[in-house]
Amino acid sequence: MMKNNRVLLGVSGGISAYKAPEIVSRLTKRGYDVRVVMTKNATEFVTPLTFQTMSNDVVHVEMFNQLSNKDVEHIALAKWADCMVIAPATANTISKLAYGIADNMLTTVALATTAPILIAPAMNTKMLAAEATQKSLDVLRSRDQYDILPTESGLLACQDVGSGKMLEPEDIVDYIEKALTKKTMAGMDVTVTAGPTKERLDPVRYLSNHSSGKMGYAIAIEARNRGARVHLISGPTQLDIPRDVDFIPVESTQEMFEAVEKVFDDTDVLIKAAAPSDYKPKAYAEEKIKKQGGQGMAIEFSPNPDIAKHFGNKKGDRVVVGFAAESHNMEAYAKKKLKEKNFNFIVANNITEANAGFGSETNHVRIFDRDGTEENLPMMDKKELAAQILDRVLENLKS
Ligand code: PMT
Repeated sequence: MMKNNRVLLGVSGGISAYKAPEIVSRLTKRGYDVRVVMTKNATEFVTPLTFQTMSNDVVHVEMFNQLSNKDVEHIALAKWADCMVIAPATANTISKLAYGIADNMLTTVALATTAPILIAPAMNTKMLAAEATQKSLDVLRSRDQYDILPTESGLLACQDVGSGKMLEPEDIVDYIEKALTKKTMAGMDVTVTAGPTKERLDPVRYLSNHSSGKMGYAIAIEARNRGARVHLISGPTQLDIPRDVDFIPVESTQEMFEAVEKVFDDTDVLIKAAAPSDYKPKAYAEEKIKKQGGQGMAIEFSPNPDIAKHFGNKKGDRVVVGFAAESHNMEAYAKKKLKEKNFNFIVANNITEANAGFGSETNHVRIFDRDGTEENLPMMDKKELAAQILDRVLENLKS
């Protein structure tokens, strides 16, 4: 496994503690082992029982009455954690951490651990802006062990408007995953194409396909988590732009081709998860095409550049990975594309299968390698598949 998986969640006493169980839920669903430590104030907002049920483990609040193993509890927890995340982190807890005050279970464990600590601040705007809080945050920022997550702006629980809102659980989990991922791609440039393209016919209509971008975005996020510089060249999708990637939005296949060309010299790994269109309307009509009475209508298409083939054949030392979206004869077509487009390996998915291919959270693929080997992977989450694809990329880079 590329990831460490033991997360210690520290919950301090702010109203956004009500969002913390969702962090536990998301992490456990992704296979992480989670333990929770709360301040007494936090138990006023959410009961320990909620966290206990979700993490399937004892929740730690008191310093002196919960010896569940032979070690000293706070030291055992501090050693156990691969990563500690404090969410919400109140002004009070942040300042205690900055100055080494260890007067409850949470701050004591934080002082004792050598694991990375992520701080998700949550407080009133004025408390966040206060000189004391800002100085404490600066002290924590100056320590390599700490990563201070941003806050969001908006209407706060106290009805003030401004910054100080805790990040959403989904975003906090994204930071945790990055912190826990081994940096096996540090120093590499990884270019990923994702999503559909749109080929315009007139001001109203276009030719496109069902790609949601989920497969390509999952690969981009995993490569970023592994320390790579990621260029994500994306057709139009409904997905959030991942943070900390070089995001390059495009519309047509021609634009996608030009975007790949711009970053290709710097690219070490090119992964073509997008579904570009092989054809585009031969002519773009400046005015809306009007209905021709009861007649049918023919549209003429001209070929688009084959991006994968063009760059696959110029790849040199780079690793180039292709996808094949097939509705039939998957093996034969995938193997043909593997050869013609000079991929290191090709990931073939059957787009007619339920929960695989376009739009789904999961995918079911067969991977064909240029050395003649093939692997039939089980149905899995696209995030997990992204990790398996990048493991294979690393093997290709070594050989
Ligand atoms: O985006 P999702 O909803 O998560 O769906 C994922 C996916 C089904 C889009 C993805 O898994 C996938 O299969 N992507 C490739 C889709 C495709 O265009 O397949 P293809 O068999 O037509 O093309 C073969 C390869 O050539 C692909 O790597 C493709 O990116 C590339 N290609 C195709 C045409 C073209 N003009 N230029 C290209 O580079």
